[in-house]
Amino acid sequence: MCGIVGYVGSEDCVPVLLSGLKRLEYRGYDSAGLAVIGSAGLRVIKNEGKVAGLQARLPASGISGSIGIGHTRWATHGRPSEENSHPHTSCGGDIAVVHNGIIENYLQIKERLLAAGHIFRSETDSEVVAHLVEEKFAQAPGADSDARFFEAVRLAVRELEGAFAIAVVCDACPGLFIGARRHSPLVAGIGDGEAFLASDVPAFMEHTRKAVFLKDGEIAVLTAGKVKIFDMDGKPVPVKANVIKWDRAMAGKGGYKHFMLKEIYDQPLSVEETLLGRLTLDEATLKGEFGLDYKAARAITRIHIVACGTAYHAGLVAKYAIEHFARIAADIDVASEFRYREPVLAAGTLILSVSQSGETADTLAAVRTCRAAGFKSLAICNVLGSTLTRESDFTCYTHCGPEISVASTKAFTAQLAALLALALQLGRARGALPGPEGEALAAELMRLPRLMEKTVSLDKNIAEVARKICRKGSYLFLGRNSNFPIALEGALKLKEVSYVHAEAFAGGEMKHGPIAIIDEGMPVFGIAVHAATFDKMLSNLHEAVARGARVIGIMTEGIPAGGQLAARFDVPKVNEYFSPLLTVIPLQFFAYHIAVLRGCEIDQPRNLAKSVTVE
Ligand code: M6R
Repeated sequence: MCGIVGYVGSEDCVPVLLSGLKRLEYRGYDSAGLAVIGSAGLRVIKNEGKVAGLQARLPASGISGSIGIGHTRWATHGRPSEENSHPHTSCGGDIAVVHNGIIENYLQIKERLLAAGHIFRSETDSEVVAHLVEEKFAQAPGADSDARFFEAVRLAVRELEGAFAIAVVCDACPGLFIGARRHSPLVAGIGDGEAFLASDVPAFMEHTRKAVFLKDGEIAVLTAGKVKIFDMDGKPVPVKANVIKWDRAMAGKGGYKHFMLKEIYDQPLSVEETLLGRLTLDEATLKGEFGLDYKAARAITRIHIVACGTAYHAGLVAKYAIEHFARIAADIDVASEFRYREPVLAAGTLILSVSQSGETADTLAAVRTCRAAGFKSLAICNVLGSTLTRESDFTCYTHCGPEISVASTKAFTAQLAALLALALQLGRARGALPGPEGEALAAELMRLPRLMEKTVSLDKNIAEVARKICRKGSYLFLGRNSNFPIALEGALKLKEVSYVHAEAFAGGEMKHGPIAIIDEGMPVFGIAVHAATFDKMLSNLHEAVARGARVIGIMTEGIPAGGQLAARFDVPKVNEYFSPLLTVIPLQFFAYHIAVLRGCEIDQPRNLAKSVTVE
């Protein structure tokens, strides 16, 4: 994720843009920059590091003006550096662009523009937008610069594939700037004689509470005090402004009461951003995103996964998925166990570590042990430049932005997304998933973010059921196959934020002991989705019902449950190995609502730290 912001009005835009960027730093902070049109024309300033670093350089630059755009970056294409920072400019330096998202067809566009003589200065996908707008602006007919600029942006964004939210300024048009979005968020703010554009409302909330949320495929033209919206065909769209009622404390949380809730809702987007560009069928993608070319992928004899806590649960889903899709034997250890148990690893084993922070002491120690023994390691990590990424041979970043809540939610699903993409790509590279099968699975995985959006809408109904069970002292979670780790994760989440006793078992283990703890009214969460083990899982749930449990099913929509479930929450039908991306969401909501109802501290639960850097 990155944060973008824009302003047009009568004030100096620099302080407005800076304060907006600071409020968007939760979306990323490896570099920041501004493009401002003032008396000296269009000027750009960028800086590697946080927004404060950019701020420190501003007085000496003398940059000011009443229209400008800004960006705080979380690197995807291209390392964090000044050249890769936004805004990116056209060859003539008269058009500047900030971008959030990933442009999947940027290489094709870049090659064409290079052949046409454009000169690129960065390694980013985003820079193509500046050159593309420049090309279209030069070709646009007529003498009205504003109309030509609008047409240039419209035609440029129509060529883009992937996800984007952009803001563009043009030196020839000092009275307006333009924004457009597809999949990445963008919201305009209408003030008194001024207008704003940002990735999120808090960026401009201190100036105006009149917000216009852009829909996918919309283009906004912002002038002082006015916002006009158009579709991609250039037809005007009615502008519907909402009045934002959040207080200051809510604003940082995007209007949600807690970061945990906001982060649960962020998941469709963060999973989409994590998947973007990782599922195209070519060796370059496998190499670029996972550090493995086809030869290296085929040479892997086993995969050994190490992680802790929630990241361990993501790794456990990956074990099932890698064995199923790639037909590579996969083992997994809790990192703290691995490091002390003298593991015997076969030659050719790839060490796969999973960590949100990249600073977890046990995970680091496990990776160090393996690398010292000569094994290659691949890290799935969220924090750019963290110790794990520096000490691994390869890194695949999850693109979910900083996770604030101690109880991990969006980092978990982003890890799942990256790991599922890895499993598919390994399967394709090794011939375990022949052409059409691999392509169909990749296309299905890309659809998951839309289905996650549908699943987050269960929130309200879950809150009602949570009310009925929140005073219980003990909870049970059951799942099988790739949803067994989701049962573990559901129980962990509930323990972390509600401080209640919760246990999880593989459904098949029930009769080997755990069934003895079920008594009248005990809440049992059962994940029974469309899968090879569905019938078995359902009979586990019926056994629990027969012993008086209050069973809550997390099920595939339309699948008959029989028996007397106390409640069921349905998720869309998908490949069973992808279903964890959906089934975990209701369990995250249950943990959240039960904790709220019990009056617990949500974002900083007792005794827990966000990053466990000691043993
Ligand atoms: O930063 P990491 O992903 O390595 O952290 C691992 C665990 O400490 C972490 O997942 C922990 O279990 C969270 N509190 C879970 O919500």
